[in-house]
Amino acid sequence: MSQPISTALTIGPAPEPGDGAAPRHVAIIMDGNGRWAQAKGLPRTIGHREGAEALRRAVRAAADLGIEYLTVFGFSSENWKRPAAEITDLMGLLRLYLRREIDEIDRNGVRLRVIGDRDRLSPDINKLIDTAEARTAANRRLCLTVALSYGGRAEIVRAAQKLAQKVAAGEIAADSIDEDAFQRCLFTADIPDPDLVVRTSGEKRISNFLLWQCAYAEYVFMDKLWPDFSGEDLKSALAEFASRKRRYGAAG
Ligand code: IPE
Ligand code: IPE
Ligand code: MG
Repeated sequence: MSQPISTALTIGPAPEPGDGAAPRHVAIIMDGNGRWAQAKGLPRTIGHREGAEALRRAVRAAADLGIEYLTVFGFSSENWKRPAAEITDLMGLLRLYLRREIDEIDRNGVRLRVIGDRDRLSPDINKLIDTAEARTAANRRLCLTVALSYGGRAEIVRAAQKLAQKVAAGEIAADSIDEDAFQRCLFTADIPDPDLVVRTSGEKRISNFLLWQCAYAEYVFMDKLWPDFSGEDLKSALAEFASRKRRYGAAG
């Protein structure tokens, strides 16, 4: 006798299938280092140190998962408001990261780039960034962009200034400025927009990250604090992304 077909499965509309696609560009707001340390009774700086380890894991996982672009928020323009000692610690870790990780980054075919207001970073850090960018410029497996002293609004204002200067110099007409022209004046001119933004630590906000670029990004928020982030977490964010249906304003 054949099994009766369950009607329960056919009641209601079928679930919307997701696009099932893999993101080309993943952006991560690496948040929660301070709370991670606090929960363990440790100084915040230890949280930042473990956060740098989590970044190393994320970069490796992203390359293994075939992601083309990974952009991470390392330090925002607003983070300059933090106590001087914490900023010193963070800059120290950045120096260490740029010195110690560059061999592995290069060996793994990762291209490193930095976006943000570089003028606010110290000359020695700028030199380390220049060296790392030049050394890895030809790598194609994964493009890792680190946002440092970065703010989305500041980036948009900077682009507006660049365009205004071109208009003032008579190089372009004001009414020739369109979205493409604007996009070409952003730090991310030659990088596709993020498909997926992941934020750790339970906060559900964008905190001035890639405002223009994330107009149609999908968001995955996780409660996990950044130092606990693993390759499996990245995988689960990709699975969630694959289940989403993107519409870009078109009829579903
Ligand atoms: C993210 O962790 C790292 C930076 C912003 C530099 P936080 O330092 O913001 O950690 P929480 O959010 O205070 O836990
Ligand atoms: C965003 O985190 C910046 C980085 C992760 C580098 P914040 O901790 O600075 O953001 P808010 O203050 O919670 O919005
Ligand atoms: Mg935070």
